[in-house]
Amino acid sequence: MLREDLGEGLELALAVPQHAEALFELIDQNREHLRRWLPFVDATQDVGYTRAFLADQLRGLAEGRALTLVLFHRGRAAGVLGLNRVDAVNRVASLGYWLAREATGRGLMTRAVRRLIDLTFESFPVDRIEIHCAPDNRASCAVPERLGFTREAVLRRALRAHEFTDDRVVWGLLREEWTG
Ligand SMILES: CC(C)(COP(=O)(O)OP(=O)(O)OC[C@H]1O[C@@H](n2cnc3c(N)ncnc32)[C@H](O)[C@@H]1OP(=O)(O)O)[C@@H](O)C(=O)NCCC(=O)NCCS
Repeated sequence: MLREDLGEGLELALAVPQHAEALFELIDQNREHLRRWLPFVDATQDVGYTRAFLADQLRGLAEGRALTLVLFHRGRAAGVLGLNRVDAVNRVASLGYWLAREATGRGLMTRAVRRLIDLTFESFPVDRIEIHCAPDNRASCAVPERLGFTREAVLRRALRAHEFTDDRVVWGLLREEWTG
């Protein structure tokens, strides 16, 4: 899957270094919206950082440890989603995402994550997908909740971003719950 049209203006593309300029610009325009929850935002100070991340994600795809997608809305890059950890020993993947503020509130990320879950169970040897979020990050926690994940645990003070340490809510979805 290099680029897939999910309809109603939503497309997903495999993230490649050629997306670096568009994504760096998007992050730069959305720092206030993103930095409270995402540690990479403050670390992203130039396009080279984003390009290096995307190159590493492609290597990670070849090595079976990553899958990163760019979300396009009406033809323009609007966010990113992907597997940020694939634990082949325990057969667990964890999944993360962000959207530019102007693309929120339309159900785009929920639809995109639904497709990423399909791809993950089809293409990776994992039987469980996790999503981690801070309890106060209502919009983020609502995504796994909408998709039928189970809220399994709260790890105390285990999620660090932009000078805050939050609790970490662990949402889990099993292969048989999704496919069966
Ligand atoms: C997390 C994040 C991607 C969620 O964005 P979002 O727009 O709320 O999620 P979706 O795209 O799935 O859209 C859901 C919203 O669209 C609405 N919506 C409209 N049509 C919809 C549809 N067909 N299906 C589902 N929701 C729909 C929902 O009601 C919901 O809005 P509400 O929260 O006002 O009820 C976004 O808030 C973000 O990027 N936050 C900052 C970064 C971040 O926290 N990342 C996660 C770290 S753990």
